[in-house]
Amino acid sequence: MKYTITLLPGDGIGPEVMGAAVRVVDSCGLGVSWEPHIVGQEAIERFQTPLPPEVLDSVRKNRVALKGPVTTPIGKGFGSVNVLLRRELELYANLRPVRTLPGVRSRYSGVDLVIVRENTEGLYSGIEHRLTKGVVASLKVATEAACLRISRFGFAYARKHGRKKVTAIHKANIMKLTDGLFLDCARLIAPEYPEIQYEEKIIDNAAMQLILNPAAFDVLLNENLYGDIISEIGAGLVGGLGVVPGANIGEESAVFEAVHGSAPDIAGQNRANPVAAILSAALMLEYLGEHESAQRITAAVHAVLAEGRAVTADLGGKATTTEMTDAVLRSLERAPAAPHAAL
Ligand code: NAI
Ligand code: MG
Repeated sequence: MKYTITLLPGDGIGPEVMGAAVRVVDSCGLGVSWEPHIVGQEAIERFQTPLPPEVLDSVRKNRVALKGPVTTPIGKGFGSVNVLLRRELELYANLRPVRTLPGVRSRYSGVDLVIVRENTEGLYSGIEHRLTKGVVASLKVATEAACLRISRFGFAYARKHGRKKVTAIHKANIMKLTDGLFLDCARLIAPEYPEIQYEEKIIDNAAMQLILNPAAFDVLLNENLYGDIISEIGAGLVGGLGVVPGANIGEESAVFEAVHGSAPDIAGQNRANPVAAILSAALMLEYLGEHESAQRITAAVHAVLAEGRAVTADLGGKATTTEMTDAVLRSLERAPAAPHAAL
């Protein structure tokens, strides 16, 4: 086998959409062997921890994982497996390309954004405490090292992919120290990339501008929380969570996963849209240097979306997850390479 890849199916709709992604990758005949692992609630029941050490060992060894969504209990219970994975493996950059897709209904056309999100600190540091009865606090952590690293990643990505502009998103007018540091770091890196335009926008204004005129943006550079929210605004601009892929990238390893969560409302019903998971797998193949397969998969997905007959309910169709995946596989047999790379 050429590649061994850690597979984390997750829960909720995770196993359904990951099953689809695995079928599509396997059909490319690249010699991928999957190493499946359980995380989240099921791992707690079996191993008394949501993220068993073998999972981290597996990703460290294989360097690449494909991951489904994992349910995180709200307001109590275990911490987010995603946050733990990202922190433990130093997957410091979260990358979410957001593009208008053929045939997918949306109020916008021609959206083509890349959202870069710092993945390891900010308000997701999980440092919360109770000061006194009725008073709690959450620490927003910003370090120079992490801010410089994500800025460099954003600009390097922009250069590599021929992007024109990087917009740093912030609220440094209020959070003068933390977001101030984030901006200082972006400003330090920007001159190393003179061909790329650099601008700054305050998060609330950026959110409105994105909805008014998404074409005004190119690469968006975010700290953790803003990136989370901006990513889902991005998904809303191109037809919803079912179609937006993502990647968590570090120096040593990378974990590929859709933006969407475990969707308990439709889990186990064969109704989930597999596109986000399949396109995340395409990003993974791109990362592995399998450009042709990544492009063929992207083109096959586009063809199924453009035709619009075998699409799931979230896209206005009647197809099941399995039927849509079957259509992608059929299209893959015919699909030529797409004009642009996925990642
Ligand atoms: P969600 O993304 O699971 O669902 C939001 C809405 O979008 C739901 O109506 C759902 O049915 C729909 N949706 C999501 N993915 C879809 C798909 N592929 N096809 C069709 N419809 C889809 O977000 P929610 O409800 O906020 O979170 C549910 C759980 O997922 C929570 O426990 C949350 O912590 C977890 N989560 C996990 C993530 C991860 O593991 N990477 C990311 C986001 C949330
Ligand atoms: Mg989110």
